[in-house]
Amino acid sequence: MKPIFVIHENEEWYPPLAEALESRGLDYRELHMGSGMVDLSATPADGVYYNRMSASSWTREHAAAPQLTVALLENLELHGRRVVNSSRALDLEISKARQCAAMARAGLRFPRSLLAVGRDDIAAAARTIAGPIILKPDCGGKGIGVQLFSSADVLDAHLKSVDDAVAPDTPMLVQAYIEPAEPVIIRNEFVGGEYLYSVRVDTSEGFELCPADACEIDDSACPAEAAANKFQILTDFGHPNLAPYKRLLRDQGIEIAGIEMITDSNGDVWTYDININTNYNGQAEEECGIAGTEKAGMMAVSGFLGHLSGQLLPSQEAAE
Ligand SMILES: Nc1ncnc2c1ncn2[C@@H]1O[C@H](COP(=O)(O)OP(=O)(O)O)[C@@H](O)[C@H]1O
Ligand SMILES: [Mg+2]
Repeated sequence: MKPIFVIHENEEWYPPLAEALESRGLDYRELHMGSGMVDLSATPADGVYYNRMSASSWTREHAAAPQLTVALLENLELHGRRVVNSSRALDLEISKARQCAAMARAGLRFPRSLLAVGRDDIAAAARTIAGPIILKPDCGGKGIGVQLFSSADVLDAHLKSVDDAVAPDTPMLVQAYIEPAEPVIIRNEFVGGEYLYSVRVDTSEGFELCPADACEIDDSACPAEAAANKFQILTDFGHPNLAPYKRLLRDQGIEIAGIEMITDSNGDVWTYDININTNYNGQAEEECGIAGTEKAGMMAVSGFLGHLSGQLLPSQEAAE
């Protein structure tokens, strides 16, 4: 039996996972990467390490946390520790361009995307796309900084007229905007490499779509109205993309993730975001009747970690 270590930097997203681990009576510890150090000459403690480092850490004054975590994960992997969501997974979490490459490798359809730095190259990249354009920071993060422009010319005019429209040294993803058939995206959740459920997310109110419970209350981070059926869980969503998604995750060393897709008016499905640090919406799970069961997100995660660590037997359900 080994302890479980949770690697993260967001105090608000941690409690739902801690509660689920607690409810099963598991031995778990927190590795908060908001500050601290990594000893690259040390042999790390034995255990199961769950990497929950988030692309949006920079929005919480934890901009250095991913780099600190890379060092930690490398050292864990060097010593053969069991890491859930490997250093490769973190590479993808913090780069939308790498996510596109992983999608291409998995044979998935994704919107035309270019990575560009600085206003001239961003404008030039946009001119290679016909129609509306989405501009997003390559590092991602809760939809923050995602902007929609009706054309390359409109984007160009914006870049020329607004002084700090883009940071000169921030890689930006310039991407074709996919007009959805309905104002909806689908987020497909996987735990332990297996499909868990899908979430239908209402996007009519904007682009910040973080499903975490904490973001619903904090209206500075996520729409406050999130509760009003914004997130609806679909338990029998037998979509053909689920098989390639599973393969993509396996090939990239990712075990827990949410993958987002949009359907356009031709019925074509476009994949555009891989969330390695995924969150689950408690209210949507309540409404769907799976809260507290093995089908609920954090219960599935805690069960998976419990089994990996040898603390739960294969057939063991939540502790009494
Ligand atoms: N290419 C696109 N076409 C249409 N809508 C998009 C596209 N990319 C992003 N969006 C919208 O913006 C939201 C945030 O973008 P996303 O790439 O998921 O960023 P983040 O990683 O910050 O969540 C998406 O959930 C979706 O509603
Ligand atoms: Mg997203």
